[in-house]
Amino acid sequence: MTKRLAVLASGGGSNLQALLDYLDALGDARAASVELVASDRATAGALDRARARGIAAVPLDAAKRGEGLLPLLQQHGVEFVILAGYLRLVPRDVTTAYRGRVVNIHPALLPAFGGPGMYGVRVHQAVLAHGARITGATVHFVDEVYDRGPIIAQWPVPVRSDDTPETLAHRVLEVEHLLYPRVIEALARGHVILRDDNRVAVPEAGVCGQFALDDDAAAAGSAIDRMLGLRRP
Ligand code: GRF
Repeated sequence: MTKRLAVLASGGGSNLQALLDYLDALGDARAASVELVASDRATAGALDRARARGIAAVPLDAAKRGEGLLPLLQQHGVEFVILAGYLRLVPRDVTTAYRGRVVNIHPALLPAFGGPGMYGVRVHQAVLAHGARITGATVHFVDEVYDRGPIIAQWPVPVRSDDTPETLAHRVLEVEHLLYPRVIEALARGHVILRDDNRVAVPEAGVCGQFALDDDAAAAGSAIDRMLGLRRP
């Protein structure tokens, strides 16, 4: 049985699309399927992408993104909650009920350049303003504080001297689309575990935590697979 995912998104939903495409490509081998997409913005592109695929698409008013969120997830039999550009704080009853089963992707290397107000182009502006040489993408478990939960996986993106916030955002987003679906698949397979002591374990990983600075998407994809134990070294 595939694990039932809900994706929460506020924007265009390119990470949602990357996840759908990745799971499609895995076909019957996939361990997860997207059963619900919800958004605090009724016009979010993510809702359109869901409707186009016949996936339940639910706009969230103030009540539904507050005390109504947990019942909504339960009604849809959701097992994992995937934040993909969701700009609201997830209520504590959800992060508690789904401990170790709510994840987020952030377009920088946390704990740098994260926290309240650090989203979208602001993240990349801050990276450039600080003169950071390396940025990247971070996938982490979600608790009741923005961008704080334990880190599951990161992938680096070198900052170029001629980067603008927009060019940097574009290259980080490419990495997000490689990294996030793989982490979600690994999570659904039970490869990634949040232990009681709040440490992340990836028992199946061939080369746990190892990465290479590589611009080649296929090579990066293979290395991420090994990092998450989706592929043997
Ligand atoms: C991504 O950069 C993600 O890291 C951040 O919000 C953005 C969402 O983009 N949390 P999209 O809606 O998936 O295109």
